[in-house]
Amino acid sequence: MNDLIGFFDSGMGGISVLHEARKLLPNENFLFFGDNANSPYGPRPLEEIRRLSAAGIARLLERNVKAIVIACNTATSAYAEILRAQHPELPIVGMEPALKPAHFARHGGKVIVLATEATLRLSKFERLMSLYGDDVICVPGKGLVELVEAGKAGGPEAETQLRVLLGPWIGQQIDAVVLGCTHYPFLRGQIQALFPEAQLFDGREGTAQRLKYLLEQNGLLSDGAPGTVEYQSSGGPEAIALMRSLMEKLD
Ligand code: DGL
Repeated sequence: MNDLIGFFDSGMGGISVLHEARKLLPNENFLFFGDNANSPYGPRPLEEIRRLSAAGIARLLERNVKAIVIACNTATSAYAEILRAQHPELPIVGMEPALKPAHFARHGGKVIVLATEATLRLSKFERLMSLYGDDVICVPGKGLVELVEAGKAGGPEAETQLRVLLGPWIGQQIDAVVLGCTHYPFLRGQIQALFPEAQLFDGREGTAQRLKYLLEQNGLLSDGAPGTVEYQSSGGPEAIALMRSLMEKLD
């Protein structure tokens, strides 16, 4: 079953998830579509996020993908249920902030959840908070996606913006930080430096594991030679070049 696995994100963030999936599933053929021209999704109204997600994912469906990973917490919150209802036969993996493991990693301190405005506002996260929301500080990651999209992860502007957003909690007992947006693993080193004692959590590995499980369950694992990755973007060749370089940085 050597058909493509479709990956979707509003932009570069999904590359961090695809990297993990390639490690776990080296024989699979991936098609990644990033909607870089319309990123960020986080500040947009729900209906707009749904419309953009539908258009992006339609590009994957056109290629008869055997499974879809919505490698974006924001698009998952807005659109995964609709997509699942429309394609009940298709394995679909979504993402949510890794608050559950972060909650269990607490030892007297607090958990910071850094995610997009939409992820924090929508009902999927509300449900998660009702289960694991003790001692949680929610921080909308204003401006961070834009910096990653501009190839500025790791640079001084990202450092400044992270200090603006997270400054109030630096020096307090923060046991865990949840990177609740797939763009944020590219800022991991800078976030860890602000909270050296904290454990960082993101959903990448869990998502890759879930994908593997669903492929196995459905008899869809590839038996082919080493797998391939095809990159597509609404942002043109420059965006694709940055996708490739971000993928290499994670190697
Ligand atoms: N990478 C996306 C996420 O995981 C969203 C970024 C955006 O705001 O477009 O939430």
